[in-house]
Amino acid sequence: MRTVEWQDGALKMIDQRALPWQLEFVRLESVEAVTESIRNMTVRGAPAIGAAAAFGLALAARQSKAKTIDALIADLRNSGDRLKAARPTAVNLAWAVDKLLDIATCGEFPNPDDLREVLLTAAQQIADDDVAINSRMGAHGAALVEDGVTVLHHCNTGALATVDYGTALGVVRAAFEAGKHIHVLLDETRPRLQGSRLSAWELEQLGVSYEIIPDTAAGYFMARSEVDIILVGADRIAANGDFANKIGTYQLAIMAREHSIPFYTVAPTSTIDLELASGEQIPIEQRDPAEVTTPYGSKIVPAHFKARNPAFDVTPHRYLSGIVTENGIARPPFTKSLRRAVAGSKL
Ligand code: MRU
Repeated sequence: MRTVEWQDGALKMIDQRALPWQLEFVRLESVEAVTESIRNMTVRGAPAIGAAAAFGLALAARQSKAKTIDALIADLRNSGDRLKAARPTAVNLAWAVDKLLDIATCGEFPNPDDLREVLLTAAQQIADDDVAINSRMGAHGAALVEDGVTVLHHCNTGALATVDYGTALGVVRAAFEAGKHIHVLLDETRPRLQGSRLSAWELEQLGVSYEIIPDTAAGYFMARSEVDIILVGADRIAANGDFANKIGTYQLAIMAREHSIPFYTVAPTSTIDLELASGEQIPIEQRDPAEVTTPYGSKIVPAHFKARNPAFDVTPHRYLSGIVTENGIARPPFTKSLRRAVAGSKL
């Protein structure tokens, strides 16, 4: 079962807002609907929103009434800008949109109808590649996870955050499927609770041993030597290895250093943004404070109470033991190893 999938002329996706209570699907027939599904987190997770955006742009091409290639490209650029703005931190979104725009503007497809077909094929390729890439990351990362360990994990980086299989949770899955006994402590990940709602749901299906913990308990378990390794995902990795991930990752990294616990991020090379020298330049999405005060409609505090809701933070590269990519594990100095990893994908 894929998180996002092209089916009968539309994009079918799991509605992640309904989990773990219901497994519901939505069918999106326009680029506007896809843009909104990314913004409201029907679909979320950097690789999953990249694939969704690619299908969204393919839908935009089909919706456009343009008769000339230039008019079609203009429509695609407009839709692409709106897709990119839906969630600004995860670079996979812009990466996927730009990949399709590069095809549209390369000059090889002067006929608008040919281009419409080619863009759909390209979106499908991005989705298929994502699954293959995740399985390669799983194989590389599984070597880091020894039999009998406890992994601490933040947010959701499993099949739901990708087209299928997952990044950091994909590594857990690969190690588990190789026969290793693993226990996973899942940060609940406030305010959207991706850890308790989505990661726990996934590990239930796989049969991997897990416990949900409050985000604030991570240090407690580290201090008691109950955490052997920390695996997280990434939404954007700068050229020096600084990376943005779900809010709360930064404090985990600092505590991991204090307790000498290996700390890895697992991400495809499409998450690496070599155009940004350091994490300071990564744009951080600020979401509606109502997600903090009234999560999923629950009344924790009166609606007028003030709150702030940054969706991501940036972890400096010095806290990272390594970055697991589909092309192997990048180690410090990251300025060199990340360039090698990205070059590996272009070959
Ligand atoms: O806000 P979300 O749920 O989209 O955030 C997801 C994360 O931060 C993940 O760790 C990241 O996208 C990597 S997912 C493979």
